[in-house]
Amino acid sequence: MTQQVFVTRQFPGEVAGPLEAAGYRVQQWTKALPPPRDVMLREAAATVGILCSLTERIDAEVIAAAPDLRVISTFAVGVDNIELSAATARGIPVGHTPGVLTEASADLAFALLMAAARRIVEGADYVRAGHWKTWGPQLLLGQEVHGATLGILGMGRIGQAMARRAQGFEMRVLYHSRSRDEAAEAKIGAQWVDFPTLLRESDFLSLHVPLTEATYHLIGAAELAQMKPTAILINTARGPVVDSAALYAALRAGRLAYAALDVTDPEPISMDDLLLTLENCLVVPHIGSAGVATRHHMARIMVENLLAGLRGERLPYCANPEVYA
Ligand code: GLV
Repeated sequence: MTQQVFVTRQFPGEVAGPLEAAGYRVQQWTKALPPPRDVMLREAAATVGILCSLTERIDAEVIAAAPDLRVISTFAVGVDNIELSAATARGIPVGHTPGVLTEASADLAFALLMAAARRIVEGADYVRAGHWKTWGPQLLLGQEVHGATLGILGMGRIGQAMARRAQGFEMRVLYHSRSRDEAAEAKIGAQWVDFPTLLRESDFLSLHVPLTEATYHLIGAAELAQMKPTAILINTARGPVVDSAALYAALRAGRLAYAALDVTDPEPISMDDLLLTLENCLVVPHIGSAGVATRHHMARIMVENLLAGLRGERLPYCANPEVYA
């Protein structure tokens, strides 16, 4: 019987073609919203491979429901939606797409930094609302980007790409990460500091850590209290890295100037979320890697990972390499 691959979303580029050419039957969920849990469990039961996105929770229950599952491949670098330990325990490799989305993600983080500093969205809203009656010497004054201090939390690929962008603006770049990368420091002109120093000295704090137990609510009330009241927080990592109730309180009280968020907790953000009532909070819908070429490249890698796994070969980009140990 032809083996089934379950494709949870409509990904860009050629996805079904290469899978069918390799002899698999493609079962694709084509609705705009992700497959509901019962569909996920039902399809998993009949599936040898899953192509998914960050909106699907592939946990131990889904993996247990899929006796024939040989490979999971996600359209993302982050794998916090996948219970890696459950996959590894079953010997199932998990593919992801690091590298190809680094530049697009750093572009978006830097765009949020600029938009927040120079109040771009407030300005656009002001014009659309018909408030622009004259040029004003005090109108929409924002913060200087050039020469300011950028703090980067997490100096992986995207953190480094952010630092490179900051160099062009002659920013002072500080970073904090678990391990110090002296080679990268020299290359990108960034200085390692401890976490309290990063919080205290950053004019812009940009988050580039994965979501793990250790990074859950890493930025909470105590951390926000150490930041400058003029500081701007940029989160393009994962929503739960920030305690959003604490963020709301700090923004509301003027203890933090502005937050620009590409990610929220939960996603999508609830329309009742108090963050959406604040003028000093900009939220965009998780579009970090959303460049046309980047998304096509991600889709190609996702398919390559899946096909390699189905052939029993090592995945080109594997998030749980311990599966090969
Ligand atoms: C996007 O957030 C990703 O992890 O690729």
